[in-house]
Amino acid sequence: MKILKMSFKGYRNLKENEIEFSPEINFVFGKNAQGKTNLMEAIWMFTGARSFRGTKDVDLVNFNCDFAKIDGKFFFENRNHEITIIFNGGKRKAIFDDVAKNYPTNIIGRFKTVLFSPVHLSLVKDGPDFRRRFLDAAICQLKPTYTKTISKYNQVLKQRNSFLKTFDNTSQNLQLLDVWDDKLSELGAKIIKERIEYLKVFKNKVFSFYSDISGGKEKIEVKYIFSVNKNINLGLSVDDIKKLMFSKLEKTRETDIKTRSTSCGPHKDDLEILINEKTAKNFGSQGQQRSAVLAFKLAEAMILEEFSGEPPVILLDDVMSELDDFRKKYLLKGLGGRQVFITSCDKSDLKKLKIGKLFTIENGEVNVKKDF
Ligand SMILES: Nc1ncnc2c1ncn2[C@@H]1O[C@H](COP(=O)(O)OP(=O)(O)OP(=O)(O)O)[C@@H](O)[C@H]1O
Ligand SMILES: [Mg+2]
Repeated sequence: MKILKMSFKGYRNLKENEIEFSPEINFVFGKNAQGKTNLMEAIWMFTGARSFRGTKDVDLVNFNCDFAKIDGKFFFENRNHEITIIFNGGKRKAIFDDVAKNYPTNIIGRFKTVLFSPVHLSLVKDGPDFRRRFLDAAICQLKPTYTKTISKYNQVLKQRNSFLKTFDNTSQNLQLLDVWDDKLSELGAKIIKERIEYLKVFKNKVFSFYSDISGGKEKIEVKYIFSVNKNINLGLSVDDIKKLMFSKLEKTRETDIKTRSTSCGPHKDDLEILINEKTAKNFGSQGQQRSAVLAFKLAEAMILEEFSGEPPVILLDDVMSELDDFRKKYLLKGLGGRQVFITSCDKSDLKKLKIGKLFTIENGEVNVKKDF
């Protein structure tokens, strides 16, 4: 998986340009607020996902432009590809190999990247929402249809909640609620099952990466916390999970009517991260938390690689300077053979760079400084 070339116009603060990347390491050096993350974000956009900073499409367009256009030339699945994305008036249009897609999300699952940025510390430090989104985004890159299941689930959830807002206890309404619960359980069970399957592989990989990073001294555990039933047997079928969720919704119905919200389902689930049997969020040191995120990201990359048969492009936004020398070396060694982008404000991170390209970025203007 490689991005060979890229051109952009009107994207955030980036000045119109066409750049050619190294198939190995691309080091992007620039001071704060010059556009490093904007460039990483633009590359990430080719995966078909939303901005990893949660920015609305309309805000991706330069303040002084009417639209933005990014175009990338790629090599994957044994051939060259081209993806163009146009952001215009809050809408986005995607063209894949000269074919305009009805839905821009249709390109999800083609160009694959794994991004690691300081934002990801939230995986350990913040609330469950970030962990659920991480899990779902990772699965989406493997199974593009999962995106549809998630958005249908969210739609039904929203409808059930607004139905609860006007709910009164007539038998007709109770019957209608049964219909919503049935739909919600069906979609919810599909999501839970996919997450269980992903985690079976993921948690073992996280364990072994973390053990390597900590020099074999510490161990990490990742557990799925179910809101439907504390102890779901991980071998259950989608149908069995659906039945469990439906009956839990029946049990929590009274509370749901009172609070006018839905108290169980995949939107309430979480991941628990334990380092040496203690919750990483409350007891982990900064270094342990960072290592946990690193292990998460490496595991995500490895699964993607095994699944698609080719290594994803790795985007390391502003993370090198936060790592000590041991972890820096570990990271670069472990990533050998893959196309990597590293952004930094600190040129000393460059010392070990012997292959690839060096770019500088100043006020959105990208320049090639060195081609090794
Ligand atoms: N739609 C937009 N139009 C024009 N400029 C924008 C837009 N969105 C963001 N910017 C500007 O882009 C600039 C650079 O942002 P970016 O996050 O890429 O910086 P950075 O080089 O990663 O900095 P840091 O080292 O602090 O992370 C910011 O000054 C921001 O105001
Ligand atoms: Mg940045």
